[in-house]
Amino acid sequence: MSRVLVLGAGAIGQWLGGLLACSGAEVLLLARPPHLEALSSRGLQFEGRPGGFPARVLASLEDLTPDERRCDWLVLAVKAFAVEDALAEVRQAGLNPTRILAIQNGVGTDDQVAACFGKARTFVGTVTCAVACPAPGVVRPESRGGLALAPMARGEQPGDLPTRLTAQGVPVFFLTDAAAMKWSKLLLNLVANASCAILDLSCRQLLADRDLFRVELQALREALQVMERKGLVVVDLPGYPVRLLARAVRWMPEALAFPLLGPKMAAGRGDKPPSLLLDLRAGRTVTEVAWMNGAIAMEAANLEMEAPVNRFLARTLMDLARGYLAPGIFRHDPGFFLDLLATASSPDRGKAGEDRRSPGP
Ligand SMILES: NC(=O)c1ccc[n+]([C@@H]2O[C@H](COP(=O)([O-])OP(=O)(O)OC[C@H]3O[C@@H](n4cnc5c(N)ncnc54)[C@H](OP(=O)(O)O)[C@@H]3O)[C@@H](O)[C@H]2O)c1
Repeated sequence: MSRVLVLGAGAIGQWLGGLLACSGAEVLLLARPPHLEALSSRGLQFEGRPGGFPARVLASLEDLTPDERRCDWLVLAVKAFAVEDALAEVRQAGLNPTRILAIQNGVGTDDQVAACFGKARTFVGTVTCAVACPAPGVVRPESRGGLALAPMARGEQPGDLPTRLTAQGVPVFFLTDAAAMKWSKLLLNLVANASCAILDLSCRQLLADRDLFRVELQALREALQVMERKGLVVVDLPGYPVRLLARAVRWMPEALAFPLLGPKMAAGRGDKPPSLLLDLRAGRTVTEVAWMNGAIAMEAANLEMEAPVNRFLARTLMDLARGYLAPGIFRHDPGFFLDLLATASSPDRGKAGEDRRSPGP
């Protein structure tokens, strides 16, 4: 691997770009403000690590030289909701990378990428290292976690990408089943994410509340049932024994799970606020919840199963983000949230709480 084009220079784009640049690869970073200015003037920096990494920063794909257009890897490091537009830009620019790495959380974007470039070239990545962006152009990776990757077409090999990252101290798992890997990561992403965003609570606050912990357990159980029906096995990911989590979620009685599993889940989440809460606080009108809880509800419906908790979490968060629900309507109000969830989950879904919903556009 000699040349990597990273499309999307946010937390993960900068982290992967920085590590690959450090490994000696030629890294091109397509960035947007405010990262664009910081990266162009100061270079790529990891907090607490002296010096920047050598990466060329671009504002547009049109800035690529004819030679640079031939890249060995295209790393698609945008959020799930930005994938469609990013792929359209790549197509319009006529780029033809040798391999593509799609690292979005949630499920569904891999198929979009494979439809664009073909399965043989598409690799799916799962980042289990939480990376924060404390300032434009600066990233703060947590020490735990790493990268798992799998080919969309069985048998395809990722070249020297894993060894380059391993040499930078990042644990890399090369797996064979992309779907099993993505759904296993989805289990981790579900924990204290949508509920925290809706209630504006930290993971620790949420998981210390027995009733809210039960909601997390139910959402995970629904996801595991869908995985089972799809024939997907749970796999471990760097730094995260997901199979153990799945076993505990399936079999542990709630009376034991709450005191034993709750604190472990909170510790596993680390200090970074959950991504969906960050998106909502940033005023985003679209979040990745449709690719997370929403995808579980959709898959369940396709399989003629029920996933009422995930359906409720996805719909409620989407309504909050789009302004169909008044901002802060559930803020620190688990009682209202649980009442609405109970009504939405009952077989004869009623209208309780509708009076607190603002009219949609
Ligand atoms: N951060 C983590 O700890 C972490 C861990 C595991 C997995 N992930 C997953 O990794 C993915 C990326 O997350 P992230 O945290 O790196 O997100 P992020 O910080 O929001 O970075 C995405 C960047 O891509 C930019 N972008 C979007 N569309 C673009 C386009 N067409 N051309 C150029 N730039 C574009 C965004 O700009 P705008 O903001 O202007 O749209 C933003 O700067 C997500 O799916 C996330 O769930 C993140």
